[in-house]
Amino acid sequence: MWNPPLFFKIAFFCLPMVWFSASASPLPTIHDGLVKAHQNEAFHPAAVAAFTRLQREFGTPLYIYDRQIIDEQAECLKEAFSSCFPKLHIFYAVKANTNLSLIRLLRKHGFGAEVISGGEILTARKLKVPGSEIMFTSSSKSPWEIELAIKEGAVLNVDSLDELNQVEVAASRARKTARISFRVNPGVDPHTIHQINTGISESKFGLHLENGIAFHAYSRALKLPHVKIIGAHCHIGSQITEPEGYRLTAEKMLEFAFELKEKLGIRLEFIDLGGGIGIPYQDDQTVMTPMELAQTLKPVWNQGIERLGYEPTLWIEPGRFFVAPAGFLLTRVNSVKTTPVKTFVNIDAGFNTLVRPVMYQAYHRVRVVGRRENVVKLDIAGDVCETGDIFAADRMLPKPRADDLVVILDAGAYGFSMASEYNARPLPAEVLVNGDEVTVIRKRGSNEDLFRNQLAPY
Ligand SMILES: Cc1ncc(COP(=O)(O)O)c(C=O)c1O
Repeated sequence: MWNPPLFFKIAFFCLPMVWFSASASPLPTIHDGLVKAHQNEAFHPAAVAAFTRLQREFGTPLYIYDRQIIDEQAECLKEAFSSCFPKLHIFYAVKANTNLSLIRLLRKHGFGAEVISGGEILTARKLKVPGSEIMFTSSSKSPWEIELAIKEGAVLNVDSLDELNQVEVAASRARKTARISFRVNPGVDPHTIHQINTGISESKFGLHLENGIAFHAYSRALKLPHVKIIGAHCHIGSQITEPEGYRLTAEKMLEFAFELKEKLGIRLEFIDLGGGIGIPYQDDQTVMTPMELAQTLKPVWNQGIERLGYEPTLWIEPGRFFVAPAGFLLTRVNSVKTTPVKTFVNIDAGFNTLVRPVMYQAYHRVRVVGRRENVVKLDIAGDVCETGDIFAADRMLPKPRADDLVVILDAGAYGFSMASEYNARPLPAEVLVNGDEVTVIRKRGSNEDLFRNQLAPY
């Protein structure tokens, strides 16, 4: 009898298996489940499977970031702006989410790091971001932070005349020349939440164009031997959803650059229009796209640089836009309680985990995993011992039961980075999802952490 060679035997048995697995529809990934939650289909088996697995493996409360969404946001912004501005440099505003893995991901897109503290400079340094790619903005810098920024060769975005003098002294002591810009306050209202509206006249930020304050700062800096002026910066606010405020700001900044050139002979290497690009936090919300913003700015920019006679590089520094929509806060329902007035769903996270709803009355979409029936008016309440700890009030949602999972969407920016251990609750873990692969990018805080650095001599 013919005895086929081993090769034929393997091919005979394996080929049908290969064909079968290729033709069967692939199982949904964790990413698919996250997408379903975004689409208001957290009842879908893919979403249930994803969140149940994440809870089982990592516990709750849990910050989940979807790598694909971060990459898509980064590419979308890069494409829009690079198609309109040939001289462009994008920075990631690290404060939005300081997780090293996310900063590293955004570095891969070619972004610099916009930082606001010594700790964030050290974060950028840990990731080997060169000083030339670091922009240090803060309205209140301590001496060690100024010294560190000068040592690293970062751009110091100076916010007052006092600070300018301190930078001059520190640079002279270090025998270096500090590269500086000034944060200019253009007096523009971009119509956003009051607490994150930074470019209006009454805000604490920047040197105002009004009354020639910013101009005076540039003329003073010209006389200092240890500072080199390389740019002008502004940031008019956060979660900005329409382009008009940016358009007005760009006009004012280009006009100012012209004044600096004409009266002081200053040629700016860059003009930084800040961050602040908003995202839709609600299901039916429409916001400007990066392309709409870039195309609004383009004619103003082109006119401005023609008048200027040279082209500075356009810098922008968004944070939220890249990471907010990629983030999901997964929580567990501890209990459901109906009072004479309301029904409260008590989850195992509070404003110590995600402070935006309490701090800014910010809206976050909430999804109940695995349920779609019995839609009633609910309050999603946190576990912090304060009356105001409510994530969502009077929301129409499927009524969950104790032990169900509830997900808060768009939690990737100003979520973990603002979290605290208030009420003696350890910090949550963070994981990064790539398709069906999940990586822990920050371990869950432990109860032991609550006592670190404490001394109890009495
Ligand atoms: C100076 C500066 N740049 C950039 C940003 C990033 O803002 P957003 O995350 O809204 O893009 C902020 C946020 O507060 C900021 O203060």
